[in-house]
Amino acid sequence: MAEIAVIGGGLMGHGIALVLALGGHGVRITDTQARTRAAVPVLMASALATLQEAGAAPEGWDAARLAQAVRVEAELEPTVAGAGLVIEAITENPEAKRALFSELDRICPADAILASNTSYLDVFPLIPDSRQARALVMHWYTPPYIIDLVDVVPGPGTDPAVIEAMRDLVLGLGQVPIVLKRFIPGYVANRIQSAISAEVFRLLDEGVASPREIDDAVIHGLSLRIPILGHLAKADFTGLELTQRALANASYAPPPARSRSETLEALCAEGRTGVMAGRGYFDWGGRDPAELFRERDRKLLALKHAMAGIGRMEGT
Ligand SMILES: NC(=O)c1ccc[n+]([C@@H]2O[C@H](COP(=O)([O-])OP(=O)(O)OC[C@H]3O[C@@H](n4cnc5c(N)ncnc54)[C@H](O)[C@@H]3O)[C@@H](O)[C@H]2O)c1
Repeated sequence: MAEIAVIGGGLMGHGIALVLALGGHGVRITDTQARTRAAVPVLMASALATLQEAGAAPEGWDAARLAQAVRVEAELEPTVAGAGLVIEAITENPEAKRALFSELDRICPADAILASNTSYLDVFPLIPDSRQARALVMHWYTPPYIIDLVDVVPGPGTDPAVIEAMRDLVLGLGQVPIVLKRFIPGYVANRIQSAISAEVFRLLDEGVASPREIDDAVIHGLSLRIPILGHLAKADFTGLELTQRALANASYAPPPARSRSETLEALCAEGRTGVMAGRGYFDWGGRDPAELFRERDRKLLALKHAMAGIGRMEGT
């Protein structure tokens, strides 16, 4: 794709722009906030440095080349002029997205593909009818330059050729597209993660296990198998009759839907809101959040490198 426009330069937008640029695309990006526009090149350069340190960036890139590949624009119109693909990554607010799509309809080339990075909103009713054939969801995960999955999701009127082209584009970036049949809030990975969260809230609120014990169970019990087997190949190894019997015994009931968790409320009330506040479920020992993010990214990249060497089970 010759030129790609990214609208919204926040947490996701700058990361998506970096992935597209390193994949050889010309990128323009805009944001309504001047502060965010100024931060985009800095954040991209820092992410590039992390990738380079891990040997995970293509050769020959530096901040100057990045600045040429990703043009930061103050206005929407020059951002989308002549763009073949426009990726919306603005705030998760239906009215803001509706207003943006209406404006994009007015100013984008007639054949431009309009993609949304929304996590949970059904954006298709927010997109003008005349654009439906070339509209889709392309949903990245954070940070997009490390996590490879991209959900590619058609709306009710999306031309299958557009889905195919966007799947190929994601493959060309060295990432992993999954094409869903239809929109469903949270797609696959976030829905599974939400089911895990619901169970974790129950275990914590009922005092069954501590945060450390829960994360020990996740790290040492669940996660080692997942990179090689996923979930369903693991079931094949367990044996499906056992899975069938476990279902029939009905000895496990998933937690009922809830809108709050007492342990979570208590932490937030104390200002323990996570890494940025220095404490959340864990105490992060007064360490600089930027350093914590770098440590996370270094470890994720090392794991990803090892996974690429090991590979998943053949045939799955
Ligand atoms: N944060 C995540 O982990 C994650 C993951 C996948 C998808 N998403 C989705 O990506 C989208 C963006 O999320 P984020 O986490 O990057 O949010 P963010 O708040 O970090 O960034 C959104 C940016 O959009 C800008 N913006 C708002 N309205 C605008 C407009 N009309 N034109 C241009 N810029 C505008 C804001 O100034 C802000 O900088 C949301 O739809 C979100 O659901 C987020």
